[in-house]
Amino acid sequence: MQVKSDSRILLDWYKLNARDLPWRVRPCDRENGLKANPYHVWMSEIMLQQTTVAAVKKYFEHFTQNWPDLSDLASAEEEDVLKAWAGLGYYSRARNLFKCAKTVQLNHNGRFPEEEARLLKLPGIGAYTAAAISAIAFGRHAAVVDGNVERVLSRRFAIETPLPALKKEVKELMGELTPDEHPGDFAQAIMDLGATVCTPRSPNCLICPWMDVCEGRKLGIAETLPRKAPKKEKPLRRGMAFLVVRSDGAVLLRKRPDKGLLAGMSEPLTTPWSVDAPLDDLQLAPFTLDWDLRDELVRHTFTHFHLEMSVYTASVAQDFETPEDHWWSSPSEISGEALPTVMRKAVEIGCRA
Ligand code: ADE
Repeated sequence: MQVKSDSRILLDWYKLNARDLPWRVRPCDRENGLKANPYHVWMSEIMLQQTTVAAVKKYFEHFTQNWPDLSDLASAEEEDVLKAWAGLGYYSRARNLFKCAKTVQLNHNGRFPEEEARLLKLPGIGAYTAAAISAIAFGRHAAVVDGNVERVLSRRFAIETPLPALKKEVKELMGELTPDEHPGDFAQAIMDLGATVCTPRSPNCLICPWMDVCEGRKLGIAETLPRKAPKKEKPLRRGMAFLVVRSDGAVLLRKRPDKGLLAGMSEPLTTPWSVDAPLDDLQLAPFTLDWDLRDELVRHTFTHFHLEMSVYTASVAQDFETPEDHWWSSPSEISGEALPTVMRKAVEIGCRA
């Protein structure tokens, strides 16, 4: 059957071309006696959702230095985990990462379950991650489907079904293609192929191990796949940020609520964000101070909306009273705060000379 030789071709390609990633045990590493570490596989897969390999490397190294084992992470403070995650985005992943570490430590004797169905019950582990951990960390047969797999398989089989309906077809196909031997290598081979050869734009078909079998290439439509249902425009929300800067340079911060967007992360004072919110209404300022409007807006895009935020700064004396549940962060402390990127931009603009 063609699909069987398809997987053989890719596994052979992966043996020679697997990217060297800090969490990965390649076929050549296995020959030297190394085995996949489920803690590393889990952490990297959570970090890699919605984030590039290049951005994840630094965070992965920092996390595994700080918390070398699952038990170390499970006994950390949530606040420290959120701080270490700051800048990676999609912050519910950090809260769930911590919750998951605790659950595995407490309910599973510190060992990740091997089956997809049991992995799926853990905090922050969805269909993709459950399949990835089961296949990569435990060598179990599982259909691992992410955006790379969707792209590569829709091209290989010239599937013109648009996303999101495409996902189901690809999941079934991936189940059939995945070999019983080294299913984790196979999944990672397709993902590496998608990241390095079968890229969204200008795929490098001439060096592709599937060049001769690719239906999309034969039809001349590879680059146009996968098809996508038209996207909804994201609305533009607006808000205002207020940086209170003390004479020693410390900035007033607070913690966001435990639920909702950027839950539990830190921020300077801000107004709620909405489509019809003003950018310049000083009646919304938290204190009556001599506010200075900065000449740059914070611009940031979230999953469901774009944001524009004006930034006001006010200098206050050393004895300015600290409001309840707020704290001062000095210039040397600010980089270690659990500030999401959008808030870091506001602090940067607000503190610029
Ligand atoms: N993207 C997400 N997980 C990956 C993995 N294990 N290998 C390659 N690319 C990935």
